[in-house]
Amino acid sequence: MPSAVMESTTQQQLRLARRMSRLGTETAFEVLNRARSLEKQGREIIHLEIGEPDFATPANIVDAAVDALHMGWTHYGPSAGLPDLRKEIADYVGRTHGVPVASEEVVVVPGGKPIIFFTMLALVDEGDEVIYPNPGFPIYESMINYVGGRAVPIPLREERDFSLDVNELASLITDRTKLIILNSPHNPTGGVLSKGDIIAIAAAIGDRNIMVLSDEIYSRLIFEGEDFSIMSVPGFKERTIVLDGFSKTYAMTGWRMGYGVMRADLATHIARLMTNSNSCTASFTQVAGIQALRGDQSSVDKMNAEFKRRRDAFVTGLNKIKGFSCRMPKGAFYAFPNITKTGWPSKKLADALLEEAGVACLSGTSFGSYGEGYLRFSVANSLENLTTALAWIGTWVGKNL
Ligand SMILES: Cc1ncc(COP(=O)(O)O)c(C=O)c1O
Repeated sequence: MPSAVMESTTQQQLRLARRMSRLGTETAFEVLNRARSLEKQGREIIHLEIGEPDFATPANIVDAAVDALHMGWTHYGPSAGLPDLRKEIADYVGRTHGVPVASEEVVVVPGGKPIIFFTMLALVDEGDEVIYPNPGFPIYESMINYVGGRAVPIPLREERDFSLDVNELASLITDRTKLIILNSPHNPTGGVLSKGDIIAIAAAIGDRNIMVLSDEIYSRLIFEGEDFSIMSVPGFKERTIVLDGFSKTYAMTGWRMGYGVMRADLATHIARLMTNSNSCTASFTQVAGIQALRGDQSSVDKMNAEFKRRRDAFVTGLNKIKGFSCRMPKGAFYAFPNITKTGWPSKKLADALLEEAGVACLSGTSFGSYGEGYLRFSVANSLENLTTALAWIGTWVGKNL
């Protein structure tokens, strides 16, 4: 009697594991769903909520994937990644970071995010402290809480151009600190840590046995300032896990391919987590990944030039809107205006802009408590749409503030 079975199963209470109550989320996907449902009702919405390049993946990479499929790269591969791709990544990271990197120190995973997930699972015990940027990518705090760690925020303040205060960081380090998360260029603020800042951070950590997760997913998207990693500081290679990937640099968010670079002994444990979760990253995408790193890079330069043009126009436009003031972000593709002078709390303003002005953006509080007073707009949309969004926000502000 299938219907009776159905009835009895739906009457059972769902007994979730306790840890699920500690797992957070990424609001961007919720706002996207809300925006899509408004569109279904016939509303016109400009999407500035999601952090993904609006460009197509460069043709040489797509062709490499199609060829790989035809050549039979449709089977399981090694959990840590295809040897040729690991070697290509090791060479690339070695070259850009000025340190020798071996293939055994690279683990290829489906996107940059799993490196956050696996690092927490592999390193953080209950009660261990993890220092993370706030505002910051929400998955850091979510995962620290999920594994039972203690989330210790380091505030990023506008007056410091969203770079962290090294003395404040030093004051947060304790005997329980297991991991420090750095992210430069930074989501959501667009801040970039200078070489001087990074050297000072390294000095604050000193020779303590603390690991650093250096999230460098936007490393190729720097407009002002320099790309410098703590992995390059003498003595820090064995304490650094570099997170990078293909999503943002090559407009490959939907392909799901990223990587971590770390000491070889840790890499074997992260690969074991891959064996237990995904088995491996899709093989044909990895073949295309080799092409992405080895092939012509002019499409990356073109995308970056376009992001810069949009950033300049959008931030200039935001600064003309009453109650908004926005620093020029130095990297990534986000604008993070201060909206305290509007007198509105961030979430309420973001909701009103979506519902009433037709512009989808994120509340600064989606990135942690220190994001109150700010909104995040992604400039990964056409200049034409960005210009229209500015006009719609301006009109809404004119009527409501
Ligand atoms: C700071 C940061 N780290 C990691 C990621 C994850 O990237 P991926 O889509 O490759 O998993 C993102 C994506 O938005 C990000 O902003």
